[in-house]
Amino acid sequence: MLKQTTYLSHSYGKPDGFTLAAYEAAGGYRGVRKALAMSREQVVDEVKKAHIRGRGGAGFDCGTKWSFMPKESKKPHYLVINADEGEPGTFKDRTIMELNPHSMVEGCIIGCYGIGAHAAYIYVRDELHLSKERLWGAIREARAKGYLGQNPFGKDYPVEIYVHTGAGAYICGEETSLLNSLEGKRGEPRLKPPFPAQYGAFGCPTTVNNAETVAIVPTVFEMGGDAFSQLSTLHSLNDGGARLFGVSGHVKRPGVYEAAVGLTLRELIYDLGGGILDDRPMLGVIPGGSSCPVHLPDETVNLPNDPRFAAWHGKSILDLPLGVDTFRAVGGMLGTCCAIVMNDSADPVLALHNLVRFYKHESCGQCTPCREGCGWVDRIIKKIVQGEATMDELDEISEIASNITGNTICAFGDGAAQPMLAFVKKYRKSFEDYVRTGGKSQTRRLSL
Ligand SMILES: Cc1cc2nc3c(=O)[nH]c(=O)nc-3n(C[C@H](O)[C@H](O)[C@H](O)COP(=O)(O)O)c2cc1C
Repeated sequence: MLKQTTYLSHSYGKPDGFTLAAYEAAGGYRGVRKALAMSREQVVDEVKKAHIRGRGGAGFDCGTKWSFMPKESKKPHYLVINADEGEPGTFKDRTIMELNPHSMVEGCIIGCYGIGAHAAYIYVRDELHLSKERLWGAIREARAKGYLGQNPFGKDYPVEIYVHTGAGAYICGEETSLLNSLEGKRGEPRLKPPFPAQYGAFGCPTTVNNAETVAIVPTVFEMGGDAFSQLSTLHSLNDGGARLFGVSGHVKRPGVYEAAVGLTLRELIYDLGGGILDDRPMLGVIPGGSSCPVHLPDETVNLPNDPRFAAWHGKSILDLPLGVDTFRAVGGMLGTCCAIVMNDSADPVLALHNLVRFYKHESCGQCTPCREGCGWVDRIIKKIVQGEATMDELDEISEIASNITGNTICAFGDGAAQPMLAFVKKYRKSFEDYVRTGGKSQTRRLSL
C-alpha cells in the first residue's frame, strides 16, 4: 500500500532546507536529546525495535549490528558511514547529503553513543562535491552550536565527525575495502572474519552503516522504535519503517521518493514514477541497483509453502512488497531499493553488455574468479554483439557466472554474476537471436 512519508525528505525542494535553522524548525535534533538521556544499551534496544534493515544493499538489521560492538574494550570504537554510493542506478544517499545533511550529523551522534565511539567518519566519493560541501557545512554549524565536540547537548560524551573523500572506485563501497581506503591503503576487500565489529578501522571495533541507515535513526528516537517499525506493511517480517525509493530509466518521472517500507514495484513505477516512458510495454525491472537480478513484468510469485509469503503467492512480481526478505524469497534481491526500469526500446543484450563492462572495469582484481570471469564474460558478449559467438559460448556465460558466485572474498563477485545469470536466462531468445543471425536481424536498440 502506497504510504508516502517525509521523515528524510521534508527539506527536499526547499532552498535553505539543508541549514541547521531549517532542520531545527522541522523538529531536528530532538531525537538525539532523547537518545543521550538513555543508557547505551537502551539506545541499541530502541534501534533494534525499529527493525531498520541496512539501506546499503545487504539489508542487515541495524540495531543487531550495533549490538555486536564490544561492551568493554581498551581500543577506541569508530562509526564509519558509507556514502560511497557507486551502485549503478542508485542516487538516494546523495540527496540526503545535499538536502538534509543534519539528519546524518544527528544520526552519527546517536550512533557513536550507541556503539561506544567518539568519532565518526563519513566516506564520500570524490565527485560528490555538493554532498561534501553540505556535510562540512552541517558539521561546522553543529560544532558551533556545541552539538559536536566535548559536550554534545550538555552530555559528557565527546563526539567528532570527519568527512573523508574517496577516490571514486565502486569496490570502495564494500565495507572492508572502504576501511582499507580510509586507512590510506589500496581499496581491496578484507577477508571476514574478523568482522569490522572486532577489527575494523585502524584495527579497532567499528560499525559501518550506510548514509540513509544512519540518517533515519533520529526519526526512530523522535517517534519510538516500535511506532517506527509499524509504519511498514512488512513490520511482521522485521523490515520496518520508511525509506527512500529511487526509480530511473524508462519512466516518466524518475527520481527519489520516500514511502513506508512495503511499497510495491507497481506503485513505485506507475504511481510515483509516472508509468513507462512513451507508454511502451515494460521489458523488465531491476529492483535495487544493477547487482540485483532483473525481473520480467509477467513474472508471478511462486511461494506456495511458506506461510510468511502466502498472501502474495500467485500474484504478479510487480505487486510483491519491496522488502529484504520478500525479494530474497523469490530468488531476487532488494538491494538499494532504487529500481532501474526498461521499456521495450531497450535491447537486453546491449544492456547486459553495458553492465558487464562496468563490473569488469571495477573488479579490484584480488580474486581470480571475479577478475578473470568478468573479463571473460565481457569478451563473450562482445562476440555475441558482433555476431561472432556460438551457442556454446552463450551457455558459457551462465557457467562462468555460477563459478564467480560464492567464490570471492567479497560480494562484488555475486553482484556481478547476478545480472549475467538473470539476463541470459530471462532474455534467452534475444541472446539466441544475436547468435543465430550473426547479430544482423537485430534492430539495434538502446542499451541501459
Ligand atoms: C561491491 C560492493 C559495493 C558496495 N557499495 C556500497 C555503497 O556504495 N554504499 C553502501 O552503503 N553500501 C555498499 N555496499 C554494502 C556495504 O558493504 C555494507 O553492507 C553497508 O555499507 C552496510 O551498511 P548498512 O548495514 O547500513 O546497509 C557495497 C557492497 C559491495 C559488495
